[in-house]
Amino acid sequence: MTKTARAYTNIALIKYWGKKNKQYKLPYTNSLSLTLDRFYTDTLAEVIDNDRDIISLNNEVLNDTKSQRIRNYLDTVRQMYSFDDHFQITTVNHVPTSAGFASSASGFAALAGAINETKQLDLDRKQLSILARNGSGSASRSIYGGFVEWIAGYDNLSSFAVPIDETPEIDLTLLSVVINQHSKKVSSTVGMKNSVKSSPFYSNWVTLVSSEIKEIKQAIAQKDLQKIGEISEHNAMSMHALTLSANPSFTYFAPETIRIFQLIQEIRHKGIFAYATIDAGPNVKIICTKESIQKVQTYIEQQLSNVTTVVANIGHGIEYI
Ligand code: DP6
Repeated sequence: MTKTARAYTNIALIKYWGKKNKQYKLPYTNSLSLTLDRFYTDTLAEVIDNDRDIISLNNEVLNDTKSQRIRNYLDTVRQMYSFDDHFQITTVNHVPTSAGFASSASGFAALAGAINETKQLDLDRKQLSILARNGSGSASRSIYGGFVEWIAGYDNLSSFAVPIDETPEIDLTLLSVVINQHSKKVSSTVGMKNSVKSSPFYSNWVTLVSSEIKEIKQAIAQKDLQKIGEISEHNAMSMHALTLSANPSFTYFAPETIRIFQLIQEIRHKGIFAYATIDAGPNVKIICTKESIQKVQTYIEQQLSNVTTVVANIGHGIEYI
């Protein structure tokens, strides 16, 4: 029986922000992430006797508009592995939008795994990472657990993620603070394109990432949590400086995003461990320790009434169930 592929979402500590090749989603820089345990996508792919793919997400068959990105991806996969089959894709997302995590990382990693399984492609994890990257850049990292680095590479076969430490024994846990507000969304694909095109600081970003990747890997090896927090926060804020300095300028921050950032600084002044990282949206992810998380959660919830918080820990790589 064909198995379902399960892939977990990841949070980048050193962000991927900018493509040098759109077709293959080849990034300008390496990036580094942590896979999380709570939010995942389950995908089953079954070959069907049909010349169109059928895509269902959370028990709803998606119309053409909603499924376009997945259809395009399946065309890419057919081309890469030279077969003509079409699929019934059944996906269940356990990445509640209320948790503030993007589902494209776990989604495309699970889809790559599901095709590998049903077509018996026998791909190793490096090949799976390449396949997942063709769907969404950050998905390349969700093949592995723990700390993961995505090596930028220079063509379709040289750009893939590698594990740094899949089961790190480190006292790190994450609090996602979700702002209950719908702001107009600029997708990460569009946001990074505008930053590359028009931020005068983009070349500095490329230089910064190459030094911060080295520093954070050293900090991970030494289990230096303080350093990991400092570097991650600085990298995230530097990424957001690329949106503010784009022309026209844009931002993912909502007023509450800034407020939470200020609260994190207050929390740190009290000697409690907390560092922020923010993706292409208004929600803030707080890097905590097992000891600090409760205090951080209570403080944030006391100060802000219109937010929801979700706790996540370090998760593992793709699996088949
Ligand atoms: C801010 O992987 O969603 O989360 O490759 O265009 O699908 P595409 O982009 P995507 O971008 C993720 C951006 C980020 C940083 C990161 O995860 O590294």
